[in-house]
Amino acid sequence: MTDAIAYERIGDIAVLKAQNPPVNALGIDIRTGLLAGIERAESEGAKAVLIYGDGRTYFAGADIREFGQAPKDPYLPDLCNRIEASPLIVVSALHGTALGGGLEVALSSHYRVAVPSAKMGLPEVHLGILPGAGGTQRLPRVAGTEAALEMITSGRQVGAKEALAAGIIDKIAEGEPREIGLAYTQELLDQGAPRRAVGEMPAPQAVDFDAIYEATLKKGRGQLSPATCVRAVQAAAESPSLEAGLKRERELFMELMNSDQRLGLIHAFFSERAVSKLPELKGVAPRDLNAIGVIGGGTMGAGIATAALLAGLSVVMLEMAPEAAEAAKGRIAGNLKGALKRGKISEDQFTQMTEDALTLATDYAALSDVDLVIEAVFEEMSVKKEVFGKLDAVCKKGAILASNTSYLDVNEIAACTSRPEDVIGLHFFSPAHVMKLLEVVVADKTAPDVVATGFELGKRLKKISVRAGVCDGFIGNRILSTYRKAADHMILDGASPYQIDKALTGFGFAMGPFAVADLAGLDIGWAMRKRKRAEGMDPRERDSAYVDKMCEAGNFGQKTGKGYYVYEAGKRGGTPNPEVSDLIAAERAEQGISPRVFSDEEIISRYMAAMVNEAAKVVGEGIARRPLDVDMTLLFGYGFPRYRGGPLKWADIEGLDKILANIKSYAKEDDFFWQPAPLLEQLVAEGRTFDDLNKENS
Ligand code: CAA
Repeated sequence: MTDAIAYERIGDIAVLKAQNPPVNALGIDIRTGLLAGIERAESEGAKAVLIYGDGRTYFAGADIREFGQAPKDPYLPDLCNRIEASPLIVVSALHGTALGGGLEVALSSHYRVAVPSAKMGLPEVHLGILPGAGGTQRLPRVAGTEAALEMITSGRQVGAKEALAAGIIDKIAEGEPREIGLAYTQELLDQGAPRRAVGEMPAPQAVDFDAIYEATLKKGRGQLSPATCVRAVQAAAESPSLEAGLKRERELFMELMNSDQRLGLIHAFFSERAVSKLPELKGVAPRDLNAIGVIGGGTMGAGIATAALLAGLSVVMLEMAPEAAEAAKGRIAGNLKGALKRGKISEDQFTQMTEDALTLATDYAALSDVDLVIEAVFEEMSVKKEVFGKLDAVCKKGAILASNTSYLDVNEIAACTSRPEDVIGLHFFSPAHVMKLLEVVVADKTAPDVVATGFELGKRLKKISVRAGVCDGFIGNRILSTYRKAADHMILDGASPYQIDKALTGFGFAMGPFAVADLAGLDIGWAMRKRKRAEGMDPRERDSAYVDKMCEAGNFGQKTGKGYYVYEAGKRGGTPNPEVSDLIAAERAEQGISPRVFSDEEIISRYMAAMVNEAAKVVGEGIARRPLDVDMTLLFGYGFPRYRGGPLKWADIEGLDKILANIKSYAKEDDFFWQPAPLLEQLVAEGRTFDDLNKENS
């Protein structure tokens, strides 16, 4: 017996209590303890076994940290079969989150009772695997094929009420899991209830698995685990026995366990949690955060205010004139109506947020008492400086002064105040109440507790916050501008925007770069190019003017109905704009370039090499503290496919030596753009990976 499972005998009932905080993951000690507990109960003549979890939850799943290591006996699938085969009545009492292997242990038990707040599900798809301990065979036997397919392919958690209705649990009872479990087990014994093994129930009904497989594959944008789950559930319906179904489940599970997608998704799982745990912030308490100010009520400012209101903060919205302030309120109310419609907030909360928690103002004096103020005004240094000068004059001592700039120098902004230690960048992504990413931009003099407060704000707003240093574009936009350039160069050399977009959505991106440009507005890039040309570009940098011609004709992308694509009202996507191909052909002719053919593979190689190379520079220069910070930025702000883990995890899997060799070969054509990142060269020389750096810096 290990300490992870406590054994206790209460009358005829052997009680097995899991104690493996924080989430009672089913690691080797738990598995050993459960097996020993069942055997002991049987040998000591108990009539029933009760399994429950100490602390905040029943088993929340297999221990993900053990993945990739040599599996240790007893294996979870064998343990589940052993529990189910026990001649005693086995009952599980669920609370917290019975997930993955946890729900599989529960389904191997003969009866299940849960507290009303319990949640359960098989979230393995999110980790790139499938439920490998009988979940795909047992869940459809209790819930039916269709409900099981929906739960397993989506990884959705269901509440106790829904689980009861679906037949996943037998009873809901109020109280502590131990008490409700003991009462229910005794009740079953008193009734002389039979041992009831889910695996012995009839096989679930067959459905059109091929059609569901195809639809699931398509929906997954290249992610394999959901579609593979369909095949496993199919085995439950079509196999001659439970054993045969379990065998098929095992084979499919191993396929996924050995896949790169599993590596990518598990990297995403742990990085998502590690990203806001910065070693430098250990023990640093954030400042008070109750009321915030937002300057500028355009789309961005209104989105930030909406997110803050939804998080329970009070917001002072400052605009230049009463009409603009009212318009801002209209935008915020519109956003909140969306939340109301989706049932995220009640009518009362809507009224409280728009009428009590939100204050409109046109005078900076209204910001004298807020704890933190974020400006989202026009992206121009002189405008920002004027705003910060005014904030410095009115804000209380200790208030945090934040800029939502996406590329301006936060050090320069901080320097125009008398309190640079209180100044920080908080870079939101539009729409700010929807997009998950927040870059917390730390300037040279920003105080540690101001950084901690930036992260605290991100947490309250339910964002994924990433620490970034100061540079043009911080982490995300700096890397974006580089891989966009690689795409632009490929267009000059012969690829079409449509082929590039298609190759990249094939790679798993939510959208290709040119569809994104149309969505964001082509005028943004136009303004940036004009600024850069005015500042003076390096003569070695490749440039093109064909997009400017589109902009000059008033075509800014989706908002004007025409850009790289033509958009018809009411339709979601666009169709290629034939004028673009003519403009590109003219540009190539002007630059004396004879176009060549690109394969999709080469497009992906070049695009990813540019992304990884710039990301390595960003890490090497300390703009991102760790490679995982870059990975989470791209995942949560730029549509990078989660199942690839992020660009630097992808690079590790692909092989850093291969990527560096590609960069060096591209440099033969353009050694200005393709300058290898020193960090990439160093890692290759030392035979190390980006993940090694993650481990060294966490
Ligand atoms: N294995 C190992 N560690 C785990 C874990 C698991 N299954 N689940 C959570 N943890 C760790 C987290 O990494 C975190 O560690 P740190 O504090 O060191 O960062 C800690 O437990 C607490 O987790 P959260 O911060 O996420 O806490 P939460 O209360 O917000 O959420 C949770 C709790 C709902 C259980 C959430 O952690 C979660 O969704 N976990 C994953 C559940 C899951 O996917 N289970 C299936 C596993 S795969 C499986 O079971 C395969 C199979 O069939 C054989």
